[in-house]
Amino acid sequence: MWHTHGVVGWIQARRAESTKHWHSTALLLQFLALAECSIANANPPTLEALPRPAMVQPALAELGRHLFFEPRLSGDGSRSCASCHVPELGFADGLALSRGYNGTEYFRNAPSLLSVRLKRRLTWDGRLDGGDLATAVRDMVTEAHFMNADARLVQERVRQIPGLMALWRKALGHSSEPYGPQIFNAIAEYLKTLDAPDTALDRYLRGEPVPLPPMVQEGLALFQGKAACHRCHSGPLGSDGKAHRLGLPEHPAVLAEPLRSISLLRHHATMGVPNYMHERKDLGAYVLSKTELDRGRFYTPSLRMLVHTGPYMHNGLLATLEEVVAFYDAGGGPGGDLTPLHLSARERAALVALLKAWSAPLPVVTVPPAHDYAVLPASQR
Ligand code: HEC
Ligand code: HEC
Repeated sequence: MWHTHGVVGWIQARRAESTKHWHSTALLLQFLALAECSIANANPPTLEALPRPAMVQPALAELGRHLFFEPRLSGDGSRSCASCHVPELGFADGLALSRGYNGTEYFRNAPSLLSVRLKRRLTWDGRLDGGDLATAVRDMVTEAHFMNADARLVQERVRQIPGLMALWRKALGHSSEPYGPQIFNAIAEYLKTLDAPDTALDRYLRGEPVPLPPMVQEGLALFQGKAACHRCHSGPLGSDGKAHRLGLPEHPAVLAEPLRSISLLRHHATMGVPNYMHERKDLGAYVLSKTELDRGRFYTPSLRMLVHTGPYMHNGLLATLEEVVAFYDAGGGPGGDLTPLHLSARERAALVALLKAWSAPLPVVTVPPAHDYAVLPASQR
């Protein structure tokens, strides 16, 4: 198991180094960044409350809920969506780096699925469109390092499970037969129901007279002021839906563990990265655009329900929210686009308090009962 002590030491070193180099250039750069923000947008971006729940077809979402927990959607029947998006872990998995399908390991952190319907781009490198959740579901089911299943095999399995067929017919009509794309649609419909719960901070952002604890108020003022987190973290998820380069170091396990680097190289090969055998770093958004500017850029994640979904960042390198804030305070990592913030210990604590205030107890999720395959009556065998 890899430890984050190295990162903490490295952040401390960066902070000491950044204090040494703290001079007017950094101030000017920060001023310019803020000025750019206010010129480009008369109403600077802010955090926003959750919008209304999505309109869903209840019977289809109910079918999707059963399919979400159904391991027979994976090639060898060993894992379901809920194996990596665990309801009790905020629909993440609690690991720095996600496990892959049996015999593989993944090279990134599994994101929470709470309020995923509000995302513009999906996955850390933004390779999937947030407006098309069903395609993301298809990817998860069929990709070699997630569930490695063939859509036609899966549809045939569903046909042979009476409990699922009853739900299928209820949602899709009596003559409807299982069909891959419709399986993915049903799960996408369920994902739309997985909203993060409303918090006191949401009510405050809606303008209701909710008293926020003083540290949270202080954190909010810093977030949208001196620390300028809102440059990238805005809207109802606290995400601008864009990619940025923070200079986060690689997770050592991706390079050190052959199964993880094999998945990384395979991902680069699939995305058509030129000369991919020599690209052993996570290229982020570059895989899509192939423009150098996007190398090492990752999409801004949601800031909701963070107390349940650590470790943080695309490779889970930062174990706690305190480490995340220290990382920003130090000006991010080498080659990143951030500048040091020079926060006091109290200011760092206020930012952490704000981040925690956007969490609530986990929504209660009832795991559906396992369904058996049909057994043919003796007369038909
Ligand atoms: C083996 C682990 C694993 C399984 C099983 C799995 N996922 Fe994922 N999922 C991940 C990881 C890791 C990512 C991030 C991938 C990346 O950024 O490259 C992800 C990303 C996603 C995303 C995009 C989220 C975002 O915020 O960008 C959605 C949606 C999603 N998964 C849904 C599902 C559904 C639905 C299933 C079941 C059909 C499923 N996943 C099965 C690990 C898994
Ligand atoms: C330049 C844009 C930008 C700014 C400014 C910024 N962030 Fe981020 N934030 C990101 C991106 C991009 C990621 C994901 C980076 C990665 O995984 O490599 C991220 C990740 C995070 C995460 C981890 C969430 C998770 O689920 O893994 C937290 C927490 C966070 N930021 C809080 C903050 C705070 C607090 C500030 C202000 C001190 C801040 N951010 C400023 C873009 C930004």
